[in-house]
This record gives sequence, C-alpha cells and structure tokens, in this order.
Amino acid sequence: MSGHGTPIPMTSRPCGPLKGTANVPGDKSISHRSLILGALCVGETRITGLLEGDDVLDTARAMRAFGATVTDHGGGEWTVSGVGVGGFAEPQNVIDCGNSGTGVRLIMGAMATSPITATFTGDASLNGRPMGRVTDPLALFGTQAVGREGGRLPMTLVGAAEPVPVQYTVPVPSAQVKSAVLLAGLNAPGQTVVIEKEATRDHTERMLQGFGATLHVEETDEGRVITLDGQPELTPQTIIVPRDPSSAAFPVCAALIVPGSDVLVPNIGLNPTRAGLFATLQEMGADLTFENMREEGGEPVADLRAKFSPDLKGIAVPPARAASMIDEYPVLSVVASFAEGVTDMQGVKELRVKESDRIDAMAKGLRAAGVQVDEGPDWWQVTGLGHGNVPGGATVASQLDHRIAMAFAVMGMATQKPMHIDDGSPIATSFPIFEGLMADLGAQIVRSNT
Ligand code: S3P
Repeated sequence: MSGHGTPIPMTSRPCGPLKGTANVPGDKSISHRSLILGALCVGETRITGLLEGDDVLDTARAMRAFGATVTDHGGGEWTVSGVGVGGFAEPQNVIDCGNSGTGVRLIMGAMATSPITATFTGDASLNGRPMGRVTDPLALFGTQAVGREGGRLPMTLVGAAEPVPVQYTVPVPSAQVKSAVLLAGLNAPGQTVVIEKEATRDHTERMLQGFGATLHVEETDEGRVITLDGQPELTPQTIIVPRDPSSAAFPVCAALIVPGSDVLVPNIGLNPTRAGLFATLQEMGADLTFENMREEGGEPVADLRAKFSPDLKGIAVPPARAASMIDEYPVLSVVASFAEGVTDMQGVKELRVKESDRIDAMAKGLRAAGVQVDEGPDWWQVTGLGHGNVPGGATVASQLDHRIAMAFAVMGMATQKPMHIDDGSPIATSFPIFEGLMADLGAQIVRSNT
C-alpha cells in the first residue's frame, strides 16, 4: 500500500562506472497472476521468486480475503491453496489494492462471475485511474459496478450469479483489460472470446494454458483472437517467476549512460510481448548482449549484459512496438536525453493513464533538468544533448509513480548536477531493493531532504 506513508525524498548524484551483477526482483505481471490463478485452483500452487513488492503483497492479501490460503515461506517462496474456479468467498471488508492497476483489474475480473459482492479501493493514484475499461466488458457477463464519477474507485462489484459467456474486442491496447475478461470467462459456461487488435503481454494466456485451461490463440486480420473454454478445473502448478524485464530496464539503462559501466542482469524474462525496450536501445546504438538464452516455466529467459554506450543516437520508436515496452518509456526518455538527436515516441496515449500521466511527469522533470521535450495527446519527442551535456540539478515530482522515481534516479547518475526526487517511496511497489542494488553497482542515491 504505497503512497500511504511518509514521502521519501531522494538525491541521485553523478557516479563512477557501474559494475557487477544486478539480481532484479521477480516479474510483477507474472507474480500477480501466480497468486490469482493459484487461488482459482483446488490444491497447492508453489511459487518461487515472487516479487515481494507492495503491489503484489496487496494482491496476496486480496486472495486471502476471497478465501485462499496464501503463505509466505521466506526468500521468495510462497504457496497458495486455492478455492477453485467459482469458489471465491465474499470478502468481509474493502479490498485495498494500493497503487496497483494490474492487481485491482485482474481481481475484478476473477471475482466478476461469482455470486458475491466486493468493494475495491486504492491509493490516490489508483483512485484516479479509469476502471470503466474493465467494468464495461464485465457488464456483458452480467456483473454490476457502482463507482465514483468517471468510473473511478472506490467501486463495488456485484458478481454475476448466472454469467453468460462473452465475445469482446478490447478497444485499447491493454493486457489488464484482456486478462480481466479472460479471468471472468473462467466461471462462465461456454466459450469466452477476446479479440485484441494489437498484441499485448500474453502471460495470462500462457499461464492459463499452464494451469490446464483450454485456450486457443489465432492470429487473424482482425487481430489476435483468444478463445477460452469456460468452467475448467484448474490444476495447481509449480511456478518459477522470471526476473522482471521492466525492473531490469533501470540498471541496464543506467549502465548505458554512465561512462565505463559493465553490468550483468541474469535470468530476465524476455517474452517478446515485453522485450521492446531492448530492441529500441539496440537501434539507438546500445551495447547489449544476450547470453544463455533458454526457456523456463513457459517463458523465454536470458542473461543480459549492458555496457556504457558512447554513441547513442535518437530514433523514431515504431508505434507498433509500444505495447511491448509500455512501462519502459520513462527510462527510455532518460536514455534519449543522453543520445544525439531526437527520439520520437508515437502512439503512446496509454502512457497518460498509468500510475501517473507519464508523458506529463517525465516532460516536466526532463525540462527542469535542461532537456527539450515536445508533446501531444499520444506522442512525445525528446531532443538529446549527448553524453556529458545534460545539466540536471532539478527537483522533480514522482507523482506516486515508481517508474518516474526510478527513471529520474537513473538520470542523476549521469547528469552534470544531481537530481532530486520529491518522493521515492512508490519504488517499493515494484522494486523494493532498488536503492541497495544500485548502490552495490556503484550508484550514489541517498535519502535526502533537499
Ligand atoms: C500489465 C499491463 C500493462 C502494464 C502494467 C502491467 C499487466 O498495463 O502497464 O504495468 O500485468 O497486465 P495495461 O494493461 O494498462 O497496458
């Protein structure tokens, strides 16, 4: 439950080369899904490498509230004894999903076709985010939702007692919406069909298949057509969560911009629906090497080495790649500031409805640090100044957004003057070991009151 505590001001100072191994935490998307799917099986699911960030801990608490037994065995080892598809109990109290859009939207989907009522809330960031994108398709199953104006939390969902299967074309590129519909479809009779025009992260599809659901994916002219057979009996699994490529992005990008750096990030998930940042960085001239490519638990995994890259160039990021790197634009815009020329990012309207309006949050901070940023409703451009030329010396607002806080912490490692971040506390939602891990590599991030 981030954003409920005292703000943590931070300063990130220019530092010497970053060197060593960065063992980043488990994947956030897969961690949420492991707990939720574990709760929807009868029997015990074992999870290794679960991300123990606030977002996922909120989902663990929520699964307990719906009747599952969720046990932390220490060191990232967890078990979930589930209640089965359609077996959720009615929670005794309000479900607080903290900062997590993924948590609340997936859980809404998972409970929407059970004859129970639940009320959801979150922190100031989450309570400002649109939920209609999930409650609209859930209404087609027969679920009722009553929330605040504009479809905002706090919100109560009355699950459909006699759900009907649904065919739904997702109007925005969103894995959360797709996943909410699929999870709701689990307890509807017959086949639920979800069509997405642009492919988004496919962890839900892969994991549903892994848990024994019958799910087919077909690439058609209309897009990806996903068909799920309802009311399966899911089988408990043993899950090894790969390390999060979205968290890996921070030490990787830091290594690219700090002279002399050489950082290894082992075991990161490289699902093609998540790996767009790395292709983009390579096109910009980044020195990245993928070692030991392999498959673990149904997901491609590799060890990634990133070295200081003296000749970074601005590029036009293909809009078709946006969904596969949607969480990485904040830190990409930092790398773009140290490149020569313009980095053009189009087709990224979704950035405006994340934990913050990420175009606005980054544009304000980058400008304060001396970098030119131009923006429109669904695009932005960063004009890079080249290595050694980015002034920095600004105090920036993280706006309750972990990725904004970490992006500016990375920036301060290579600017002329330190970067000050008003509140680093949201970092605990996805990357609770960020400060220690970066310090071990040689970064100088201190908690400050500057
Ligand atoms: C996620 C989907 C994405 C992403 C978020 C995690 C998921 O959100 O930004 O961090 O695990 O399904 P959208 O579905 O809103 O694009």
